[in-house]
Amino acid sequence: MLIPVLFLMTQFLRVSRAVSGVSFHRVSGTPCRPGEDTELYDNVVSRSVMDCSALCLTRDACRSMAFSATLGKCLLYEGLWSPDQCVAAEGWQTWNSDMCGNGGHRLEDGTCRCVNGYLGDRCERLMEDCAEGKASLHYPDIGKAGKQQRSLLARPRLSPRDIPVTCRTNGNTIFLQKSYLNSLGSFNLSWENYVSGMKVPGLEDDLFMGLQDLYYFTNSKPYKLSVRILLYDGTKIFFTYDNFLISDNTTFTLSVGNFKARSLEGFDLFSASNGQKFSTKDNDNDGNGDRNCAAEYGGGWWYNGCPDYNVMGWVVGEGETVAGDQYLRYGPLAAGTMKVFTLSLEN
Ligand SMILES: *[C@@H]1O[C@H](CO)[C@@H](O)[C@H](O)[C@H]1NC(C)=O
Ligand SMILES: *[C@@H]1O[C@H](CO)[C@@H](O)[C@H](O)[C@H]1NC(C)=O
Repeated sequence: MLIPVLFLMTQFLRVSRAVSGVSFHRVSGTPCRPGEDTELYDNVVSRSVMDCSALCLTRDACRSMAFSATLGKCLLYEGLWSPDQCVAAEGWQTWNSDMCGNGGHRLEDGTCRCVNGYLGDRCERLMEDCAEGKASLHYPDIGKAGKQQRSLLARPRLSPRDIPVTCRTNGNTIFLQKSYLNSLGSFNLSWENYVSGMKVPGLEDDLFMGLQDLYYFTNSKPYKLSVRILLYDGTKIFFTYDNFLISDNTTFTLSVGNFKARSLEGFDLFSASNGQKFSTKDNDNDGNGDRNCAAEYGGGWWYNGCPDYNVMGWVVGEGETVAGDQYLRYGPLAAGTMKVFTLSLEN
């Protein structure tokens, strides 16, 4: 309760300070109240433009200023000025404290350091994917645990909205991550969950981006599908497929090109699923007429027949197994050896 009350009080103080002795209009001339377009941050006595500007620099939230020499007042704002914004009426000088948008900071050399996935000279747009974020140098720690791994937004060309992304340190954009420690049945979810995406409650690193967003990514730019498997003994297995595409947004049919092993033990998980629709326990599109592979195996996938691997299934911990070996196989890997399975988009 405390935080909302404090927040409301702050809002009230902002607006009430704005009212006394100062009138406002849009650049176009019509009257307005601050707060409609620009949040007034503070209203302080000030002797000069320099004084006003120095005050702004000491406040984290201050992005722009207005100063009146006749009133000896300095108004500090949270937003940057734009032609439609609400400015203090005649006799006031207004200017921006810096030129970086979307929360970016101005560095000493005058350039902007962007945050949250924004890019460009003035942080004016979102990255298309993690690879673009990494190439931009705004995100030197991209993918590093606890840093910029999961707090970024991306906007693939075809997407109508911003998409939260989880990045690998190499700049790949992760769309599925499943850890096998204590992940009992955690991906046994519905069609709706797989289409819109999910974080698995209580399992920090487990996620599925969502088929709809995967469709936007893979249709906006050519990608490879990158597969990384970490085993409990520390071994890492890598392989890729060229030309990874989710070819429509109703059945989310998989299309992959050539398989390429990148480590000693690569094995082909996807070729048998090429051209296959996505299946979940409540939307059975698999190639096996009698069985519902997704319900049996406990996870959504581009099932053709019910195959002899099951990356979405159950494992309870290192080396441990649960009854019914159906859920424990990964092609050539022994049961209970796989620790983390990661699928990502590679440029
Ligand atoms: C599917 O994709 C098309 C083309 O990108 C888009 O117009 C349509 O709205 C999408 N449908 C859904 C359900 O998002
Ligand atoms: C998945 O959940 C369904 C019920 O929603 C259940 O019938 C099925 O047995 C579960 N599968 C696994 C492998 O746990």
